[in-house]
Amino acid sequence: MLCPENADSLTKSPGYTYSFDSGSCKQLDRGTASLEGRMKTGVKSETRFEYDASRYAAYLETPQGRLRADLAFANLQEFLPASAGVNSLRALDLGCGTGVTAVRLARLGIHVTLLDSSPAMLDIAKRTAQEAGVTDKVVLRHADATQLANLFQTRSFDVILCHNVLEYLDEPGAVLRSAARALRDSSAILSVLVRNQAGEVFKAAIQAGDLAIAENNLTAEWAQESLYGGRVRLFPSNSLQAMLKAASLAVIAERGVRVLADYLPPLVSRSADYERIFELERKLGNRPEYASVSRYTQCLGRCVSSVAEDCA
Ligand SMILES: C[S@@+](CC[C@H](N)C(=O)[O-])C[C@H]1O[C@@H](n2cnc3c(N)ncnc32)[C@H](O)[C@@H]1O
Repeated sequence: MLCPENADSLTKSPGYTYSFDSGSCKQLDRGTASLEGRMKTGVKSETRFEYDASRYAAYLETPQGRLRADLAFANLQEFLPASAGVNSLRALDLGCGTGVTAVRLARLGIHVTLLDSSPAMLDIAKRTAQEAGVTDKVVLRHADATQLANLFQTRSFDVILCHNVLEYLDEPGAVLRSAARALRDSSAILSVLVRNQAGEVFKAAIQAGDLAIAENNLTAEWAQESLYGGRVRLFPSNSLQAMLKAASLAVIAERGVRVLADYLPPLVSRSADYERIFELERKLGNRPEYASVSRYTQCLGRCVSSVAEDCA
């Protein structure tokens, strides 16, 4: 059964069942599975987004899904290249999913290439672009992000998005290095959004009341994501920054995305109070002391002029 206001809690993973009950998600059954059993990963990343893409699309319609996308886009907008007019800018959305963010860029007049390894996701992204009336601004590309270096010439893009994709890759650093080389110049921007390890500790403890998983997540490299029950890479504090620096990128901003929203009591309506929650989250995500425990970490990086040659 779906919990409409918090799809992150729609756990159908081994040993867990959640239900929507009296306005809140509640854990009904944790079963007898051991911690090890509960941490096992049953769904491969390459199949979950292919055979059940609509589940992810539905998640993005929930207040929690919207909040993640809206906050990440608001952070990105602060750093979009101003240049000679957005109509000449080119963007690449790696692992574009349903195209929700790419279409926002297209609406600004930016030409966007939407790349995803899932044809089902690309079908949804195509509809998103059609409904938004921006098909002339977008190109759909069925490809694997790990092949990025072979797909585009160096210095091709002014904006590259890598939102919630690195979590599913075996070598996220290699993709970041390829992305850095695909940035056009020192005004081009790379936006990366990943799952924050510290946020998984809070989520397990506060949402699920599972202290064993919470403690495990303090050091876990992988966790089990809620939507499909598959494994997802966790990024410890500063690890994303370190990866970006290793890719010869300068980190110009780090933000937390969804600090408190996942833990608000049922008396706060995620829908009716959406704008207030969004504004509060914007403030929290900008402060390192709160951002450090957010569900997601967003870094914005650039090739600084002194290392531009290294990037390309
Ligand atoms: C969690 S979704 C994120 C979608 C979108 N970026 C967003 O922020 O809503 C992950 C997406 O990455 C895609 N993906 C996973 N591994 C990939 C790979 N190796 N190459 C390209 N896309 C990949 C999936 O198909 C899925 O659409």
